[in-house]
Amino acid sequence: MITQVLPPTDENIERAAQQLTLGKLVGMPTETVYGLGANALDEAAVRSIFAAKGRPADNPLIIHVALPTALEPYCEVNARAYKLMEAFCPGPLTMLLPKKPSIPSVVTAGLPSVAVRLPSHPVAQKLLKACGVPVAAPSANTSGKPSPTTAAHVLNDMQGKLEIILDGGECQVGLESTVIDLTSTIPTVLRPGGITPEMLQSVLGEVQVSDSVMRPLRPGEKALSPGMRYRHYAPSGKLTMVKGEPSRVAAVIKRLANEKNSEGQSVRIFAFEEHLSAYQGMDVVSIGSLSNPETVAHKLFSVLRQADGDQVPILYSEILPAQGLGLAIMNRLGRAAAFTEIDADETEKEP
Ligand code: TXA
Ligand code: MG
Repeated sequence: MITQVLPPTDENIERAAQQLTLGKLVGMPTETVYGLGANALDEAAVRSIFAAKGRPADNPLIIHVALPTALEPYCEVNARAYKLMEAFCPGPLTMLLPKKPSIPSVVTAGLPSVAVRLPSHPVAQKLLKACGVPVAAPSANTSGKPSPTTAAHVLNDMQGKLEIILDGGECQVGLESTVIDLTSTIPTVLRPGGITPEMLQSVLGEVQVSDSVMRPLRPGEKALSPGMRYRHYAPSGKLTMVKGEPSRVAAVIKRLANEKNSEGQSVRIFAFEEHLSAYQGMDVVSIGSLSNPETVAHKLFSVLRQADGDQVPILYSEILPAQGLGLAIMNRLGRAAAFTEIDADETEKEP
């Protein structure tokens, strides 16, 4: 099969919608990351998503619809969900709600809840309206790789596995949607994203963030969101995060990079725009501006993918506070680093 990356003309969106109704996969842009879509009501089509990604069958999928009214046949929409949709949808938010029997259990990996999302990207909106079915779509990466934020990333992972990738440009947000469980007594954020806990609290009052968001799972611990169990967002190089006062962070990273370089190993540094000049002469890339976390979210996955493409074995990254959008950024960076972190303030302490 030859995979085509197509501009999102009305005609191409119609072709993509036809692919979906025929039980085929489509690469779909959203405002968060690209999705690998299939008709959620077609069991065989949904199975082919798992095969194309190499995704374990026990990791459930999100279903996408264009409008709130389209949700009723598929899940029990409660008052909290309506409030959140009014405030944030369409947008980068996924809600877990009790599933109705119309959704095949292969979509939810047998769970009683289904994850639902209304993407705001205009191409996703048009495609969902054109096909008229809910679209099950995980991120369109090979399982374990950083999520794709451009059509080229999707092509890189999915070449030959589907006919059409609609090219909607670079994804604006750059990180996957916030996942909130609305079936628990207290609404619980299972995956932080573009809609921050503070934004959710402003609408729902009490909201908690699952404590597994900022740490690896303990041996034998059951993940609330099955996707959190797997190694995720992982570049092939070994990534270490370095925290602390910026000049100490730069001193530690430069010392470690020089040591590795003298052992013949190449090193790449991920630094904030504001700190780039501290790493002159080294392989340093900007991960966006510290004063504008949106730019960091937007770039993070493509910077990780680039490091993979360049086969850099050792990576060091600066970090930012895990607040607001920073929580989502640090969740992804932390997982990419398997939560390996050096405290520069400790390392550089006077003896
Ligand atoms: O931004 C996004 O959400 C993108 C775009 C394409 O919409 N999609 C995405 O899907 O990130 P995926 O499959 O890569 O991540 C979905 C996450 C996984 O961690 C999965 O375990 C969790 O949502 N999930 C889905 N259904 C669930 C359920 N019923 N209960 C608990 N977790 C669920
Ligand atoms: Mg994913």
